[in-house]
Amino acid sequence: MRLKDRVAIVTGGGGGLGEGICMCLAREGANVVVSDLKLDLAEQVAAKIKELGQKALAIQTDVRDPDQCKQMVDVTVKEMGGLDILVANAGVDGLPSGDAPVSPLIEDVQERDWDLVVDVNLKGVFMCNRAVAPLFKEKKAGRIINISSVAGRQGEDLLVPYAATKAGVISLTKSIALQLAPYHVNVNTVCPGIIWTPMWERLAKFGSEAIPEAGGVAPEDVFNLVVATRIPFGKQQTPTDIGNTVVFLASDEASEITGQAINVCGGMRMN
Ligand SMILES: NC(=O)c1ccc[n+]([C@@H]2O[C@H](COP(=O)([O-])OP(=O)(O)OC[C@H]3O[C@@H](n4cnc5c(N)ncnc54)[C@H](O)[C@@H]3O)[C@@H](O)[C@H]2O)c1
Repeated sequence: MRLKDRVAIVTGGGGGLGEGICMCLAREGANVVVSDLKLDLAEQVAAKIKELGQKALAIQTDVRDPDQCKQMVDVTVKEMGGLDILVANAGVDGLPSGDAPVSPLIEDVQERDWDLVVDVNLKGVFMCNRAVAPLFKEKKAGRIINISSVAGRQGEDLLVPYAATKAGVISLTKSIALQLAPYHVNVNTVCPGIIWTPMWERLAKFGSEAIPEAGGVAPEDVFNLVVATRIPFGKQQTPTDIGNTVVFLASDEASEITGQAINVCGGMRMN
């Protein structure tokens, strides 16, 4: 119970990694606000947290909207009695939408797809960090954990806009860590490797259609091939692996860690 009675917000908490992070925080005694664009998903996760005996609240938030981010923090403080931990996890893949060519080439990337991924993954993380900063500064405590990706560690030719946003999250985290250090607020980022979630399901489908060498193989096989060839440990990570790292960064044990980007990727990246 390393986080007993602490209050956490997890954005994008309604599924995938976000759900895993919520459950790990709750198992360590935290009360969790599950924030997501999709309220029904957030409510399902909140119900699972309550089954563990922790307090939980589901909130609909679009992290692109500064007013909604502020409201998320205000409602948390009012309903849960405070806020100690922000996990900025909500993200999108930036893949081609609508009638855009199923292609990773920069000349085929549509401005609307670029704008969406930048708005959610980079501006959204900024908005959530900005929304908690005054509170954390005032109480001279707090933990912020932003979810980046191994894609932010070096270029990804299949995911050009996505990788750019994730590199941005690492830089943003370091700058905010410097600003908040005098207030004893720790700000770190976690870079997950490869986990089969709804996001990776979409990526694998895109890979099977967009990469000529994939020759139309099934999305699951694209995923398994990527895992087998790119991860030294030869297996995917799990939402719990990411949640455990978030718990550590939120705990007293990580009090001397700030401004860091931690890869949780079975050795896929070593920088
Ligand atoms: N799955 C992986 O292998 C992997 C690897 C590295 C990094 N990540 C990162 O982890 C995070 C979670 O990824 P995932 O695989 O669980 O994705 P996912 O698509 O399965 O889940 C993302 C969640 O974010 C929510 N969301 C989307 N747009 C939102 C918005 N504007 N406001 C609020 N919520 C919004 C969705 O409703 C969804 O519940 C993302 O930031 C992603 O980039 C995932």
